[in-house]
Amino acid sequence: MQVSRALFDDVMVPNYAPPAVIPVKGQGSRIWDQEGREYIDFAGGIAVNCLGHCHPAPVKALQEQSEKVWHLANVMTNEPALRLARKLTDATFAERVYFANSGTEANEAALKLARRWAFNEYGEHKDEIISFERSFHGRTFFAVSVGGQKAYSDGFGPKPGAIRHTVFNDLASLEAVISDKTCAVMMEPLQGEGGIIDADPAFIKGVRELCDKHNALLIFDEVQTGVGRTGHLYAYMDTGVTPDILTSAKALGGGFPIGAMLTTAEIASHLKPGTHGSTYGGNPLGCAVAEATFDTVNDDTLLAGVRVRSEQFKKGLEAINARYGIFKDIRGKGLLIGAELIDEHAGRAKEILQAGLKEGLLSLVAGANVVRFTPSLVIPEADIEEGLARFEAAIDSLFGSVAKAG
Ligand SMILES: Cc1ncc(COP(=O)(O)O)c(C=O)c1O
Repeated sequence: MQVSRALFDDVMVPNYAPPAVIPVKGQGSRIWDQEGREYIDFAGGIAVNCLGHCHPAPVKALQEQSEKVWHLANVMTNEPALRLARKLTDATFAERVYFANSGTEANEAALKLARRWAFNEYGEHKDEIISFERSFHGRTFFAVSVGGQKAYSDGFGPKPGAIRHTVFNDLASLEAVISDKTCAVMMEPLQGEGGIIDADPAFIKGVRELCDKHNALLIFDEVQTGVGRTGHLYAYMDTGVTPDILTSAKALGGGFPIGAMLTTAEIASHLKPGTHGSTYGGNPLGCAVAEATFDTVNDDTLLAGVRVRSEQFKKGLEAINARYGIFKDIRGKGLLIGAELIDEHAGRAKEILQAGLKEGLLSLVAGANVVRFTPSLVIPEADIEEGLARFEAAIDSLFGSVAKAG
């Protein structure tokens, strides 16, 4: 069958708008399209391919598990799921794990668990969930309504109730709405989709204290920040604050769909048999791949390498910016990096991404004004250099004449 971008418009629901390029092969931090054209991948499938493409460890795990058992549903448990859960509990604050298929589903489980915990422990009145403006928690109707971008949740009829939004990094605004009716506060320790905005250390500590004061659970959505992305296994480990529930997905499977909700034994005890579930959650193939991915990332040398690459990346971006002056801020942690455009170029992040593609570079946006980079955590330093050179060529194609005239 002849497959081209034109077929997309004939057969796919138009909720995505991909470019003309169709990648057919990936290796490390490079991918190739149908015409054999090569690209450097600074996107990593939106912070998913944490070991690049076709890393030998998850490939081996997938091959081996594919010849053992693919699927059992949760009427029975399976070895890869139990091993992965043990590794997650050994490596984090958590004592119990629930497996899902995506970040959204992990968040949905976290939100339902918080509601059920509060209902059982305190009664019906304690049902309020607080989250933050610009946050993103996924696309099921509960998760997207908790997310702080109304554009994503408006226009689908009545929303789930008892959800309130306050201002990120503004403790006073949370203090004004949190009460004994609050059952949980959900937050990203570093907002990804919202524009690569790190939580201030004092804010994150203050949120924990307010949750404790009002007997509310603190849920960290680490779907984007988790599994090494920030240069720590989970971002919370660098904050001095421990959540009650943590969600992980994206990089957890390194490209194979899987999500997980982590919590304490006491909180977990409120999801009794029959209260929540999923056909595919904890699937042996997904868990085997995730186990190999997690084992590879949960390594001090690899995590230190993320922090080194982060410095290299940011320095490179700053050098480009010194020549073109188009960014007002270059920020982020580890290999979750954002470059925010100056007001004069507001709204042009997507154009930069498209220009990058012409130069053989995959990048991302985080809103209209921020170019986002989430490459493989083990991207070779030479690929960072070459990718940045391609990025500069893209910048030059858009802004070169202005910069040179200036
Ligand atoms: C912080 C955060 N939470 C949840 C999600 C949703 O995850 P998924 O697309 O796997 O459902 C995302 C995806 O971008 C995310 O960045």
